[in-house]
Amino acid sequence: MKAIDIRNKYLKFFESHGHKVIPSAPLIPENDPSVLFTTAGMQPLVPYLLGEKHPEGTRLTDYQKCVRTVDIDEVGDNRHLTYFEMLGNWSLGDYFKEESIKMSFDFLTKELGIPVEKLSVTVFAGDEDAPRDEESARIWKEAGMPEDHIYYFGKDDNWWIAGEEGPCGPDTEMFYDTGKEPCSKECNPSCGCGKYVEVWNNVFMEYYKTKDGVYSKLKQRNVDTGLGLERMNMLLQGKETPYDTEIFEPIMKKLSELAKNDDISSRRIVAEHLRSSMMIISDGGRPSNVDRGYVLRRLIRRMTRHLNKLQIDLNELPNLIDLNINILSEMYPELEKNRDTIKQVIVEEKDKFVKTLTHGEKEFEKVITRIKNENLQKIDGQVVFKLYDTYGFPPEVTSDLAHEQGLEIDMNGFEKLFKEHQEKSRMGSDQKFKGGLADQSPETICYHTATHLLNAALKIVIGKDVHQKGSNITPERMRFDFSCDHKLTDEEKKKAEDLVNEWIKQALPVTVEEMKKEDAISSGAECMFIEKYPDIVTVYSIGDVSKELCGGPHVKNTSELGIFKIKKEEASSAGVRRIKAVLE
Ligand code: SER
Repeated sequence: MKAIDIRNKYLKFFESHGHKVIPSAPLIPENDPSVLFTTAGMQPLVPYLLGEKHPEGTRLTDYQKCVRTVDIDEVGDNRHLTYFEMLGNWSLGDYFKEESIKMSFDFLTKELGIPVEKLSVTVFAGDEDAPRDEESARIWKEAGMPEDHIYYFGKDDNWWIAGEEGPCGPDTEMFYDTGKEPCSKECNPSCGCGKYVEVWNNVFMEYYKTKDGVYSKLKQRNVDTGLGLERMNMLLQGKETPYDTEIFEPIMKKLSELAKNDDISSRRIVAEHLRSSMMIISDGGRPSNVDRGYVLRRLIRRMTRHLNKLQIDLNELPNLIDLNINILSEMYPELEKNRDTIKQVIVEEKDKFVKTLTHGEKEFEKVITRIKNENLQKIDGQVVFKLYDTYGFPPEVTSDLAHEQGLEIDMNGFEKLFKEHQEKSRMGSDQKFKGGLADQSPETICYHTATHLLNAALKIVIGKDVHQKGSNITPERMRFDFSCDHKLTDEEKKKAEDLVNEWIKQALPVTVEEMKKEDAISSGAECMFIEKYPDIVTVYSIGDVSKELCGGPHVKNTSELGIFKIKKEEASSAGVRRIKAVLE
């Protein structure tokens, strides 16, 4: 069986159990500013887990392309991947534990043919937030799971939430026993020694956790499951690593042929980062110095650096990409469609990096000479940052080169400076975004002022807790994202619209002043991300109805705006709604 066969079996199985197969959402979330990439199958489904009606019904299944970057530095070992595919099935207020567990058991044992003895499961042990999940344990037992293969663990192991806030609940996880020797008498699925490998996770999503750590019950009881495809594929083929399966094997082999040395970790990094980069580019990602663009840049640059380490001619890159597309396009036909773009983006980024390396290496040599003359062991954070900021040297490259010289780098010092830098550049891009610096046409400026009015109106209509979560303005329309836990009623929409039009009619003056950030906040000025603003801020006031930290520009008087009309109101992401509006 190959990965694609597992995927097809999965979708067919759940389809035969009344699920609608929905397409994978893009890796770059469409409506969720809170994450860089789609990291789980449930992520694009959050509005529906919170109660919105899904057009395809209450039973869904899909394969979801995912990127998780927390472990990027671990890639090269035998298991960490930045890109992976998650198979999932969902019940949106439909079936719950009984049916979910029975379907999982049948799929694993009958469809995939895994002997029961090789399976173990874990369930939630209970605490002050939710009871011990004896129900799941009973269902597993009835399905045929031996009692001594059922383990109870606490929140660390058996509770699932994406991030700090959102829909969540106890989960039951399924483990595959690799047959390795137990690490100790206490060896169990949570010990992490590698004997037991987690393959599937069914979350019984009944709760919503707020940022303050308060749990409340969701409107409906959902099931959210996730099965890691590469992992399952590796286990079923009896392979030690995903790199030994058909997904990576041909590229690993080609890299071995081309390499002048035997560095397995570098080969894995090249193969893994190449696949990730291709998937991100194919879904519209492009390298840059901020956020997801920076992740992609790091992936491509790290891959290039390891091609260098393997002493592989960088002109081989287009051939490696072609080979990889040939391997993967059965699973991801979009790669074939985007073949030229993928090659172009990766090769261009590689070229930029090569230039950077040539410049930077000279600088690096100077640094090394100085450090050695001064008899130091460590390159300090400031220098690592300068190499990054001025010469484009990613810290991991500096670190690799430093290691070759027997030196360490001050990563903490670097990270501190890097964070400051990112905040500054994010602020810049927010300002651009918010203020429409890229397009300062009279229309966008009007819309910009309208977002402030709408923000103020929503606070009156819905409540003080409404805050802006994002906006997007073109000369034709505005989009405004705001925190709110419910779909607006027609009456609420009408009230907000009327208020904005009322303020437009009142011809309110728009004024701007500079003040200290603390003073602005204590005067009650609204702001989206407080930590992103400098100490002295500009504050725009509209009559006495609105006061916001903002980079501008704005109209001089609300009478310039025309008639404000809300065209659409919809869910954007967990707890965030979106209004599309026009000025006529
Ligand atoms: N959301 C859960 C996970 O990512 C189940 O899909 O593990």
